Amino acid sequence: MSELAVVTGASGGIGEQIAAGLARTGAAVVLVARDRTRLEQARGRIRDAVPGAELETEPVDLANLAEVRSLADRLAERAPSIVVSNAAVIAPLDDRTPDGFHRSLVTNHLAPYLLLRRLADHPTARPRRLVVVGASPRGLARVPVDLDDLNVEDGRGLGFPPSFRPFVAYARTKNMNAMFVYALASRLAGTGTTVNGAHPGIISGGRLNRHGRGALKVFGSLCDLFAAGTDAGADTPVWLATSEEVEGVTGTFFVKRRAVETAPHTTDPHRVERLWRESARLVGLPAGAEPRGPGAEPTPLLP
Ligand SMILES: NC(=O)c1ccc[n+]([C@@H]2O[C@H](COP(=O)([O-])OP(=O)(O)OC[C@H]3O[C@@H](n4cnc5c(N)ncnc54)[C@H](OP(=O)(O)O)[C@@H]3O)[C@@H](O)[C@H]2O)c1
Repeated sequence: MSELAVVTGASGGIGEQIAAGLARTGAAVVLVARDRTRLEQARGRIRDAVPGAELETEPVDLANLAEVRSLADRLAERAPSIVVSNAAVIAPLDDRTPDGFHRSLVTNHLAPYLLLRRLADHPTARPRRLVVVGASPRGLARVPVDLDDLNVEDGRGLGFPPSFRPFVAYARTKNMNAMFVYALASRLAGTGTTVNGAHPGIISGGRLNRHGRGALKVFGSLCDLFAAGTDAGADTPVWLATSEEVEGVTGTFFVKRRAVETAPHTTDPHRVERLWRESARLVGLPAGAEPRGPGAEPTPLLP
């Protein structure tokens, strides 16, 4: 039986290319995204590019935690051995979900937190690789997560100009991705499940900045001038999900297939644990096991 992989945000952009890359390795791939039509179009394009690809679609709104929970239940039974969390949005600050969450917080951090934690609770026959697509550690060093304001209620420190604030709120969720990778990897050390993060690079061809206004829109267009294509963005996530070179490596963040350090505010154990516990509360999970002791540290690949 072929390996089963799941990719969120696979209806376009980098996620579609990650799904195509995994299909090329022979994995059966479940494509997750909100929009049914865009999902089917992506499935058609991947089939054209990878003849014989085994593809399924899961139309799920990751901004809705009830939908994430039932997705996790459906997937857990099938024990996927690869899960790539890639979906993300840069939502306007007033874009709140019916549950009261800022759309960027829930889509980019709480949804992968809930999905990967629930999947990790179920054993798999094969070694399992969880990959979280984050963003540039260098750029994110300047925007530490505000642990007192995860849901951007008062929005302090989001800076100027105002049109950039949604981007800063998004960037904080991307730091949460790295912190979550470290917290989950530490808890899963020695279990056969690895957890790593990746920055895809500055990539054009996606719709991430679709709500960008004013200076943010101009910034996005300028970035596009120098950006690589979505296939380049998929390279490191697919490599982490499949390569023998990173077998057993966990709790590490990668840029262009190289292990890199992320900012000290993402690795500080107290901050990492605070985010873990607060996220558990927000998604309605128990905080669960403590991180493992030094005897079961993850195996970083840093030189
Ligand atoms: N592009 C870059 O330069 C860049 C740089 C650094 C990091 N990244 C990271 O790379 C990843 C992919 O970025 P991209 O440029 O490919 O973005 P994109 O083109 O906007 O694709 C995002 C994907 O996420 C899906 N999605 C958004 N909200 C969702 C929701 N509520 N439920 C389910 N699916 C949802 C979208 O599906 P719909 O069809 O439903 O909209 C789409 O498939 C993100 O994690 C991003 O943070 C990108």
